[in-house]
Amino acid sequence: MKVLSSVLLLLRRFLSNKPRAFLLLVVLICLVVVAEYARQIPLVADVKDVEHPLQGEALTLLTMGDWGKGNEGQRTTAALLEQLCEERGADAVVLLGDNFYPRGVKSTTDPYWNDRWRALYSGPCLSRIPFYAALGNHDYDGNPSAQIRYSRVEPGHWVMPARAFTVRFGNLLTLTNIDTNFPDVCGFPALCSLDWLERSLARFPATWKIAFGHHPAMGGMKYPRLKPFARRTVPPFLCRNDFDMYWSGHEHVFLDIEGRNEDLPCDIRQLVMGGGGAEVNPVAPAGGQVKFSLSALGVGVARVERTRVGMEFVRAPDGAVVHSFALEKPQGDSAQ
Ligand SMILES: [Fe+2]
Repeated sequence: MKVLSSVLLLLRRFLSNKPRAFLLLVVLICLVVVAEYARQIPLVADVKDVEHPLQGEALTLLTMGDWGKGNEGQRTTAALLEQLCEERGADAVVLLGDNFYPRGVKSTTDPYWNDRWRALYSGPCLSRIPFYAALGNHDYDGNPSAQIRYSRVEPGHWVMPARAFTVRFGNLLTLTNIDTNFPDVCGFPALCSLDWLERSLARFPATWKIAFGHHPAMGGMKYPRLKPFARRTVPPFLCRNDFDMYWSGHEHVFLDIEGRNEDLPCDIRQLVMGGGGAEVNPVAPAGGQVKFSLSALGVGVARVERTRVGMEFVRAPDGAVVHSFALEKPQGDSAQ
């Protein structure tokens, strides 16, 4: 009781000074704002490894971004996704962010989980495989932590164990999800996501390394590219870790970019596959380093084998393969 009265006395003296009282009020407001921000956005490097057991010597991935609009475009692309899953024997779907428009989801019980997720991707094939999901800018306008927590609602099906993570398919492929909204880097793997991902990549070598995130590395398109901090961190991370490809969405188009440029100054094939359902964007014709561009809805298909990765862009709704290429690697380059 004596201690309490002493504390109250000290507090009264402290607050009797108006500037001090104002300062305390400002500090309290800041603490509330930071607490609310931290509740919405996981600030620490909560990065996880996911093991995806390989069923054979190769695997097939389907990928798309910018899908959860609840419109005809989403329904059309979802039907194509189920069809490709059956025809190609897909092992997983990779979601490139902007999972729910316009402001993500509010919670793990948000109606969007039924209306824009279960109702559209629960066909006999898609319901059996994992969806590895990245966060986009629209997801951050809602509650991104709820999308992470939803991994516990449908475990092994909706897979977002953290805002950045790696998926290891044996030593055939490492799939690295970068949170391009907040690509924090600080030199300490325990604290920052890019540092953690880098350490994970060094510990688990694989024949192929593919990174995926929401924002493309290059500029000059409809939407602003990576924010300035991300522009200084993501391309060096990709180049330093010798990725074979970088997949993104954000632009609602198909793009295939080969070769170095000022945005990504190393030989990483950059693909944009943001035609998952939202209205498509205009895109400049192919030329120079842009090997292919198309303003269309659709899905990317990757067939990953030990010495070859074949990529196809498949347009919705007709299922036409509008572009394809392959990367090849001699057997000797494979990780053991
Ligand atoms: Fe976006």
